[in-house]
Amino acid sequence: MTNGAAAAVSHPNIAFIKYWGNRQDNLRLPANGSISMTLGGLLTRTSVRFDPQLLADQLTLNGQPASEEARLRVSAHLEYIRGLSRSSGHAVVESQSDFPSAAGLASSASAFASLTLAACAAAALELDPRDHSRIARRGSGSACRSVFGGFVEAHAGESDLDGYAQQLASPDHWDLVDWIVITSQAPKSVGSSEGHRLAATSPLQAPRVADAPRRLNLCRQAILQRDFAALASVVELDSNLMHAVMLTSQPSLLYWQPETVELMRSISHWREQGLSVCYTVDAGPNVHCLCLGEQAEQVGRQLESLIPEAQLIRSGAGGPARLVGA
Ligand code: DP6
Repeated sequence: MTNGAAAAVSHPNIAFIKYWGNRQDNLRLPANGSISMTLGGLLTRTSVRFDPQLLADQLTLNGQPASEEARLRVSAHLEYIRGLSRSSGHAVVESQSDFPSAAGLASSASAFASLTLAACAAAALELDPRDHSRIARRGSGSACRSVFGGFVEAHAGESDLDGYAQQLASPDHWDLVDWIVITSQAPKSVGSSEGHRLAATSPLQAPRVADAPRRLNLCRQAILQRDFAALASVVELDSNLMHAVMLTSQPSLLYWQPETVELMRSISHWREQGLSVCYTVDAGPNVHCLCLGEQAEQVGRQLESLIPEAQLIRSGAGGPARLVGA
Protein backbone atom coordinates (compact mmCIF):
# COMPACT_ATOMS: atom_id res chain seq x y z
CA MET A 1 0.00 0.00 0.00
CA THR A 2 1.43 3.38 -0.89
CA ASN A 3 -1.25 5.81 0.24
CA GLY A 4 -0.55 5.34 3.96
CA ALA A 5 -3.79 3.44 4.61
CA ALA A 6 -4.67 -0.23 4.96
CA ALA A 7 -7.17 -2.52 6.69
CA ALA A 8 -6.95 -6.09 7.93
CA VAL A 9 -9.19 -8.71 9.50
CA SER A 10 -8.29 -11.42 11.96
CA HIS A 11 -9.88 -13.89 14.33
CA PRO A 12 -9.39 -14.35 18.07
CA ASN A 13 -8.08 -17.70 19.25
CA ILE A 14 -8.69 -20.11 22.11
CA ALA A 15 -5.59 -21.36 23.91
CA PHE A 16 -5.42 -25.12 24.52
CA ILE A 17 -2.09 -24.64 26.33
CA LYS A 18 -2.19 -21.22 27.99
CA TYR A 19 0.27 -18.38 28.06
CA TRP A 20 0.28 -16.91 31.58
CA GLY A 21 3.10 -14.72 32.88
CA ASN A 22 5.92 -12.98 31.05
CA ARG A 23 9.66 -13.46 31.34
CA GLN A 24 10.02 -9.90 30.15
CA ASP A 25 6.96 -7.71 30.53
CA ASN A 26 7.89 -4.82 28.23
CA LEU A 27 8.45 -7.21 25.28
CA ARG A 28 5.69 -9.65 26.29
CA LEU A 29 8.14 -12.53 26.07
CA PRO A 30 6.04 -15.33 27.55
CA ALA A 31 7.07 -17.50 30.49
CA ASN A 32 6.04 -20.56 28.45
CA GLY A 33 5.03 -21.55 24.93
CA SER A 34 1.34 -21.95 24.06
CA ILE A 35 -0.95 -23.69 21.56
CA SER A 36 -4.28 -22.44 20.25
CA MET A 37 -7.01 -22.81 17.65
CA THR A 38 -7.86 -19.70 15.63
CA LEU A 39 -11.61 -19.05 15.93
CA GLY A 40 -13.11 -18.59 12.48
CA GLY A 41 -16.59 -17.66 13.74
CA LEU A 42 -15.47 -14.36 15.28
CA LEU A 43 -13.89 -11.42 13.49
CA THR A 44 -12.09 -8.14 14.16
CA ARG A 45 -11.53 -5.58 11.41
CA THR A 46 -8.96 -2.83 11.93
CA SER A 47 -8.09 0.04 9.61
CA VAL A 48 -5.08 2.33 9.90
CA ARG A 49 -4.59 5.64 8.09
CA PHE A 50 -1.39 7.63 8.60
CA ASP A 51 -1.94 11.37 8.38
CA PRO A 52 1.00 13.80 8.68
CA GLN A 53 -1.41 16.55 9.87
CA LEU A 54 -2.37 14.68 13.08
CA LEU A 55 -0.86 15.71 16.41
CA ALA A 56 -1.56 12.34 18.08
CA ASP A 57 -2.79 8.83 17.25
CA GLN A 58 -6.57 8.41 17.36
CA LEU A 59 -8.40 5.18 18.24
CA THR A 60 -12.05 4.20 17.81
CA LEU A 61 -13.25 0.84 19.17
CA ASN A 62 -16.61 -0.41 17.91
CA GLY A 63 -17.53 3.10 16.79
CA GLN A 64 -16.71 4.79 20.14
CA PRO A 65 -13.60 6.80 21.09
CA ALA A 66 -11.37 4.39 23.04
CA SER A 67 -10.21 4.89 26.62
CA GLU A 68 -6.91 6.74 27.05
CA GLU A 69 -5.34 3.50 28.34
CA ALA A 70 -6.30 1.61 25.15
CA ARG A 71 -5.21 4.53 22.94
CA LEU A 72 -1.79 4.66 24.60
CA ARG A 73 -1.32 0.90 24.21
CA VAL A 74 -2.12 1.09 20.47
CA SER A 75 0.02 4.21 20.12
CA ALA A 76 3.03 2.40 21.65
CA HIS A 77 2.54 -0.41 19.11
CA LEU A 78 2.33 2.08 16.24
CA GLU A 79 5.46 3.80 17.54
CA TYR A 80 7.41 0.53 17.17
CA ILE A 81 6.10 0.07 13.61
CA ARG A 82 6.88 3.72 12.76
CA GLY A 83 10.44 3.05 13.98
CA LEU A 84 10.77 0.07 11.64
CA SER A 85 9.56 2.07 8.67
CA ARG A 86 11.34 5.29 9.65
CA SER A 87 8.07 7.18 9.17
CA SER A 88 6.72 9.62 11.71
CA GLY A 89 3.06 10.51 10.97
CA HIS A 90 0.34 9.74 13.51
CA ALA A 91 -2.57 7.51 12.57
CA VAL A 92 -6.33 7.18 12.73
CA VAL A 93 -7.14 3.61 13.86
CA GLU A 94 -10.64 2.13 13.76
CA SER A 95 -11.27 -1.35 15.11
CA GLN A 96 -14.50 -3.32 15.22
CA SER A 97 -15.21 -6.77 16.60
CA ASP A 98 -18.37 -8.82 16.16
CA PHE A 99 -18.12 -10.43 19.62
CA PRO A 100 -18.10 -9.16 23.24
CA SER A 101 -14.68 -7.79 24.21
CA ALA A 102 -12.93 -7.98 27.59
CA ALA A 103 -14.91 -10.99 28.77
CA GLY A 104 -12.18 -13.58 28.47
CA LEU A 105 -12.58 -13.93 24.69
CA ALA A 106 -9.05 -12.90 23.77
CA SER A 107 -10.25 -9.75 22.03
CA SER A 108 -6.73 -8.30 22.30
CA ALA A 109 -5.43 -11.18 20.16
CA SER A 110 -7.50 -10.33 17.08
CA ALA A 111 -7.19 -6.60 17.77
CA PHE A 112 -3.37 -6.60 17.75
CA ALA A 113 -3.04 -9.18 14.95
CA SER A 114 -5.23 -7.09 12.62
CA LEU A 115 -3.65 -3.81 13.82
CA THR A 116 -0.16 -5.19 13.11
CA LEU A 117 -1.00 -6.28 9.56
CA ALA A 118 -2.85 -3.07 8.73
CA ALA A 119 -0.26 -0.73 10.26
CA CYS A 120 2.72 -2.51 8.64
CA ALA A 121 1.00 -2.38 5.23
CA ALA A 122 0.01 1.27 5.70
CA ALA A 123 3.65 2.02 6.56
CA ALA A 124 4.72 0.18 3.37
CA LEU A 125 6.68 -2.45 5.31
CA GLU A 126 7.00 -5.71 3.41
CA LEU A 127 7.14 -8.42 6.03
CA ASP A 128 6.37 -12.13 6.22
CA PRO A 129 3.87 -13.77 8.64
CA ARG A 130 6.66 -14.67 11.08
CA ASP A 131 7.63 -10.97 11.37
CA HIS A 132 3.97 -10.02 11.75
CA SER A 133 3.59 -12.63 14.51
CA ARG A 134 6.66 -11.36 16.38
CA ILE A 135 5.49 -7.74 16.12
CA ALA A 136 1.91 -8.64 17.13
CA ARG A 137 3.30 -10.38 20.26
CA ARG A 138 4.72 -7.07 21.47
CA GLY A 139 1.17 -5.64 21.43
CA SER A 140 -0.54 -8.65 23.03
CA GLY A 141 1.06 -12.02 23.77
CA SER A 142 -1.84 -14.08 22.41
CA ALA A 143 -1.97 -11.96 19.21
CA CYS A 144 1.13 -13.67 17.78
CA ARG A 145 -1.04 -16.80 17.37
CA SER A 146 -3.93 -15.03 15.59
CA VAL A 147 -1.63 -14.13 12.68
CA PHE A 148 -1.99 -17.77 11.60
CA GLY A 149 -5.05 -19.88 10.86
CA GLY A 150 -5.93 -23.35 12.13
CA PHE A 151 -3.87 -24.84 14.95
CA VAL A 152 -0.97 -22.68 16.09
CA GLU A 153 1.98 -22.93 18.46
CA ALA A 154 3.73 -19.89 19.96
CA HIS A 155 7.33 -20.39 21.04
CA ALA A 156 8.54 -19.02 24.35
CA GLY A 157 11.60 -17.75 22.44
CA GLU A 158 15.01 -16.77 23.71
CA SER A 159 14.70 -13.12 22.71
CA ASP A 160 12.47 -10.65 20.89
CA LEU A 161 13.63 -12.15 17.59
CA ASP A 162 12.37 -15.71 18.10
CA GLY A 163 9.24 -14.99 20.14
CA TYR A 164 6.75 -15.79 17.38
CA ALA A 165 4.13 -18.39 16.48
CA GLN A 166 3.82 -20.87 13.63
CA GLN A 167 1.07 -23.03 12.23
CA LEU A 168 0.90 -26.65 13.41
CA ALA A 169 -1.99 -27.68 11.15
CA SER A 170 -4.40 -25.98 8.75
CA PRO A 171 -8.03 -25.23 9.67
CA ASP A 172 -9.34 -28.26 7.74
CA HIS A 173 -6.99 -30.67 9.53
CA TRP A 174 -9.56 -31.45 12.25
CA ASP A 175 -13.25 -30.59 12.58
CA LEU A 176 -13.26 -29.27 16.15
CA VAL A 177 -15.93 -26.92 17.45
CA ASP A 178 -15.61 -24.39 20.26
CA TRP A 179 -18.94 -23.52 21.89
CA ILE A 180 -18.30 -20.31 23.79
CA VAL A 181 -20.76 -20.09 26.68
CA ILE A 182 -21.14 -16.45 27.61
CA THR A 183 -22.63 -16.17 31.06
CA SER A 184 -21.31 -12.65 31.62
CA GLN A 185 -20.53 -9.81 29.21
CA ALA A 186 -19.15 -7.60 31.99
CA PRO A 187 -15.53 -6.50 31.52
CA LYS A 188 -13.26 -8.52 33.80
CA SER A 189 -12.10 -6.71 36.93
CA VAL A 190 -8.42 -7.64 36.42
CA GLY A 191 -7.26 -7.70 32.80
CA SER A 192 -4.77 -10.22 31.40
CA SER A 193 -1.86 -7.76 31.32
CA GLU A 194 -2.20 -7.17 35.08
CA GLY A 195 -2.76 -10.90 35.64
CA HIS A 196 0.50 -11.75 33.81
CA ARG A 197 2.35 -9.44 36.18
CA LEU A 198 0.90 -11.27 39.21
CA ALA A 199 1.70 -14.79 37.95
CA ALA A 200 5.20 -14.87 39.47
CA THR A 201 3.75 -14.18 42.95
CA SER A 202 2.17 -17.66 42.95
CA PRO A 203 4.28 -20.54 44.32
CA LEU A 204 2.63 -22.69 41.63
CA GLN A 205 3.85 -20.66 38.62
CA ALA A 206 7.39 -22.10 38.57
CA PRO A 207 6.25 -25.77 38.50
CA ARG A 208 3.52 -24.90 35.95
CA VAL A 209 6.12 -23.31 33.66
CA ALA A 210 8.66 -26.13 34.22
CA ASP A 211 6.06 -28.72 33.13
CA ALA A 212 4.92 -26.70 30.07
CA PRO A 213 7.16 -28.44 27.48
CA ARG A 214 5.57 -31.79 28.44
CA ARG A 215 2.03 -30.42 28.08
CA LEU A 216 2.91 -28.69 24.80
CA ASN A 217 4.21 -31.98 23.48
CA LEU A 218 1.06 -33.88 24.54
CA CYS A 219 -1.18 -31.23 22.99
CA ARG A 220 0.82 -31.01 19.74
CA GLN A 221 0.71 -34.81 19.33
CA ALA A 222 -3.03 -34.96 20.15
CA ILE A 223 -3.75 -32.36 17.45
CA LEU A 224 -1.52 -33.98 14.83
CA GLN A 225 -3.06 -37.43 15.53
CA ARG A 226 -6.60 -36.06 15.95
CA ASP A 227 -6.82 -37.83 19.32
CA PHE A 228 -9.68 -36.13 21.17
CA ALA A 229 -9.31 -38.07 24.45
CA ALA A 230 -5.64 -37.08 24.71
CA LEU A 231 -6.47 -33.47 23.79
CA ALA A 232 -9.28 -33.26 26.38
CA SER A 233 -7.08 -34.49 29.18
CA VAL A 234 -4.22 -32.04 28.58
CA VAL A 235 -6.51 -29.08 27.77
CA GLU A 236 -8.45 -29.39 31.05
CA LEU A 237 -5.24 -29.96 33.02
CA ASP A 238 -3.63 -26.87 31.50
CA SER A 239 -6.67 -24.65 32.14
CA ASN A 240 -6.87 -25.86 35.76
CA LEU A 241 -3.15 -25.25 36.27
CA MET A 242 -3.45 -21.66 35.03
CA HIS A 243 -6.44 -21.02 37.30
CA ALA A 244 -4.53 -22.61 40.22
CA VAL A 245 -1.80 -20.02 39.61
CA MET A 246 -4.39 -17.23 39.39
CA LEU A 247 -6.07 -18.34 42.63
CA THR A 248 -2.76 -18.52 44.50
CA SER A 249 -1.36 -15.20 43.20
CA GLN A 250 -1.08 -12.28 45.61
CA PRO A 251 -3.59 -10.73 45.41
CA SER A 252 -5.60 -13.77 44.44
CA LEU A 253 -7.49 -13.79 41.12
CA LEU A 254 -10.76 -15.72 41.00
CA TYR A 255 -12.37 -15.40 37.56
CA TRP A 256 -14.93 -18.19 37.97
CA GLN A 257 -18.62 -17.58 38.67
CA PRO A 258 -21.04 -20.28 39.92
CA GLU A 259 -22.06 -20.99 36.26
CA THR A 260 -18.38 -21.51 35.34
CA VAL A 261 -18.05 -24.30 37.91
CA GLU A 262 -21.41 -25.82 36.95
CA LEU A 263 -20.31 -25.98 33.31
CA MET A 264 -16.87 -27.44 34.16
CA ARG A 265 -18.48 -30.21 36.25
CA SER A 266 -21.14 -31.00 33.64
CA ILE A 267 -18.73 -31.06 30.69
CA SER A 268 -16.37 -33.49 32.49
CA HIS A 269 -19.40 -35.63 33.38
CA TRP A 270 -20.62 -35.67 29.75
CA ARG A 271 -17.18 -36.91 28.71
CA GLU A 272 -17.36 -39.75 31.26
CA GLN A 273 -20.68 -40.66 29.63
CA GLY A 274 -19.01 -40.94 26.21
CA LEU A 275 -19.26 -37.51 24.54
CA SER A 276 -16.06 -36.11 23.01
CA VAL A 277 -16.12 -32.84 24.90
CA CYS A 278 -13.87 -30.82 27.24
CA TYR A 279 -13.68 -27.36 28.78
CA THR A 280 -11.13 -24.58 28.93
CA VAL A 281 -11.49 -21.19 30.66
CA ASP A 282 -9.46 -18.05 29.91
CA ALA A 283 -9.10 -14.96 32.12
CA GLY A 284 -12.84 -14.53 32.62
CA PRO A 285 -15.92 -16.44 33.74
CA ASN A 286 -16.96 -17.74 30.32
CA VAL A 287 -16.40 -21.37 29.41
CA HIS A 288 -15.12 -22.65 26.08
CA CYS A 289 -16.57 -26.10 25.44
CA LEU A 290 -14.55 -27.96 22.80
CA CYS A 291 -16.08 -30.89 20.97
CA LEU A 292 -15.93 -32.90 17.76
CA GLY A 293 -17.85 -31.29 14.89
CA GLU A 294 -20.04 -34.37 14.46
CA GLN A 295 -21.31 -34.02 18.06
CA ALA A 296 -21.56 -30.23 18.05
CA GLU A 297 -25.36 -30.05 17.66
CA GLN A 298 -25.96 -32.39 20.57
CA VAL A 299 -23.40 -30.60 22.77
CA GLY A 300 -25.01 -27.24 21.89
CA ARG A 301 -28.45 -28.53 22.96
CA GLN A 302 -27.05 -29.84 26.26
CA LEU A 303 -25.33 -26.52 26.97
CA GLU A 304 -28.53 -24.62 26.19
CA SER A 305 -30.64 -26.69 28.53
CA LEU A 306 -28.01 -26.50 31.30
CA ILE A 307 -27.72 -22.65 31.25
CA PRO A 308 -30.72 -21.34 29.23
CA GLU A 309 -29.87 -17.66 29.93
CA ALA A 310 -26.33 -17.93 28.49
CA GLN A 311 -25.40 -16.70 25.02
CA LEU A 312 -23.83 -19.46 22.91
CA ILE A 313 -21.35 -18.70 20.12
CA ARG A 314 -20.24 -21.54 17.85
CA SER A 315 -16.85 -21.41 16.17
CA GLY A 316 -14.56 -23.79 14.33
CA ALA A 317 -10.97 -23.41 13.17
CA GLY A 318 -10.55 -20.30 11.01
CA GLY A 319 -8.03 -18.72 8.66
CA PRO A 320 -5.10 -16.36 9.17
CA ALA A 321 -5.07 -12.58 9.62
CA ARG A 322 -5.26 -10.93 6.18
CA LEU A 323 -5.38 -7.56 4.47
CA VAL A 324 -8.71 -6.38 3.09
CA GLY A 325 -9.75 -3.26 1.19
CA ALA A 326 -9.02 -0.15 3.30
C1 DP6 B 1 -5.67 -16.52 29.59
O1 DP6 B 1 -2.62 -12.08 25.34
O2 DP6 B 1 -4.66 -11.25 26.58
O3 DP6 B 1 -6.08 -15.88 27.33
O4 DP6 B 1 -0.26 -9.96 26.39
O5 DP6 B 1 -1.33 -8.67 28.21
O6 DP6 B 1 -2.45 -8.81 25.96
P1 DP6 B 1 -1.57 -9.48 26.98
O7 DP6 B 1 -2.35 -10.76 27.47
P2 DP6 B 1 -3.25 -11.76 26.63
O8 DP6 B 1 -3.19 -13.03 27.60
C2 DP6 B 1 -3.84 -14.21 27.24
C3 DP6 B 1 -4.14 -14.98 28.46
C4 DP6 B 1 -5.05 -16.18 28.23
C5 DP6 B 1 -4.26 -17.40 27.77
C6 DP6 B 1 -3.85 -17.43 26.32
O9 DP6 B 1 -4.58 -16.92 25.45
O10 DP6 B 1 -2.82 -18.06 26.05
